[in-house]
Amino acid sequence: MRYEDKTWQDAMRLRVDFNGMMINAPGRPGVCEEDISALAGKIAAATTAMKEKRGQMKWRELPYNQDDVVEEIIETARGVSERFENFVVLGIGGSALGPIAVHQALRHLRYNDLPKEQRGGPRLFVEDNVDPERMAALLDVIDVEKTMFNVITKSGGTSETMSQLLIIVSLLEQRVGKNRINEHIIATTDREKGNLIKIAQKLNIKTFYVPDGVGGRFSELCPVGLLAAAVCGIDIKELLAGAKYMDELCVAEDVWKNPAFMLAVQQYIAMQKGCNISVMMPYADSLKYMADWYAQLWAESLGKRYDNQGNEVFVGQTPVKALGVTDQHSQVQLYTQGPFDKVITFLGVDKYRAEFAIPEGFSDIPDVAFLGGHSLNELIRAEQLATEYAVQKSGHLSHTITLPEVNEFTVGQLLYMFEVQTAFAGELLDIDAFDQPGVEEGKNATYALLGKPGFEQKKQELDCRPKTNAKYVI
Ligand code: PA5
Repeated sequence: MRYEDKTWQDAMRLRVDFNGMMINAPGRPGVCEEDISALAGKIAAATTAMKEKRGQMKWRELPYNQDDVVEEIIETARGVSERFENFVVLGIGGSALGPIAVHQALRHLRYNDLPKEQRGGPRLFVEDNVDPERMAALLDVIDVEKTMFNVITKSGGTSETMSQLLIIVSLLEQRVGKNRINEHIIATTDREKGNLIKIAQKLNIKTFYVPDGVGGRFSELCPVGLLAAAVCGIDIKELLAGAKYMDELCVAEDVWKNPAFMLAVQQYIAMQKGCNISVMMPYADSLKYMADWYAQLWAESLGKRYDNQGNEVFVGQTPVKALGVTDQHSQVQLYTQGPFDKVITFLGVDKYRAEFAIPEGFSDIPDVAFLGGHSLNELIRAEQLATEYAVQKSGHLSHTITLPEVNEFTVGQLLYMFEVQTAFAGELLDIDAFDQPGVEEGKNATYALLGKPGFEQKKQELDCRPKTNAKYVI
């Protein structure tokens, strides 16, 4: 296997270039070596905490402790791929964003439009919303009899996912009969907690488990993400090998040698200087949804009201998604001339999986003709460099993470690095990066509004809210 070859691994190592952060312009936010030295005590404490809490951060062990389940996933995926035309994930948040990001990164960009023999797996749909039009649209394009549904919920009770499940179970009852529902659904959930496990047992549904201590947004590298990936032909062993390779880099205690720690330190210093926006701008369509996955990881983990001592801190950086070069024509004006309140993370790729030459033509129009003889590869590369240059020249902060290629090994590294970066940033901010009380509040209010037993008091609280003031409605 190529991912066992150390020379190949090293050639595929991600590069983190933070020159664009080390800007020392008077009156502008920027990071200098002295800022990092001044944080030495905090960095050392956070490094110790990461070591001491490693046992609780079960997601850190996923590259090491899944041999058996990986074999089971591959076997299951083979069966699904042979028998079904469609694989539909029902899930939301951490139970959907990882599968979407990894599929987009590692499969053909028009995967669902290819004929089956070229796809190498069933069509994939990840349904992470309860817009009724979207459910209707899905059912217009799939035949449930030819579909495997993977219902994913760590908590086993999320209303959106449970509603989708109720719809699908009822449809399957009508179409394939009660006794054969279990041939069309795979559950992924907690081994003990929640309602999905109860339903899975009742319907005798094949179940994969989200390991204890692996939270939703840190779950892509467990069965939550691995099953959909394997069904679509992604090499999940290589994905995990990439995560392991990154873990080995992220145990370095010297922050100057640890890419995830250094990225977190840079963001932390930038936040202290008022940069409360984190823009992710991949220069590759394949990495477009990495920005969505990162947005949840960064926002939900770090957006916190209280620190670990219970003080109100209201911290966090607002994630913004952009795509190079597309958003050069919509957002870059703001990133070069707008307020100094953001850090831009460029994601670049050395070698795209396709080469596209730009033919010569229109020699009488020099402003067009100069493009001929170049390639789209050169063009996108030049545009990335030009945007990095413009952002840096304007005194705005950025860093660039480069993947030598987009493959399972580099994507595994990228996911794992951002997870460690997030956990380390949580330590620097002295907050709990692994809870989400703000999300729970909204979930509970939904339960109350729809009459879930046990939420009567919350319903009363909602009913007692001051009624909408007509003065403020147009
Ligand atoms: O990161 C998290 O824990 C959340 O965003 C969850 O992923 C999201 O709310 C979905 O939860 P569940 O997987 O329990 O249905």
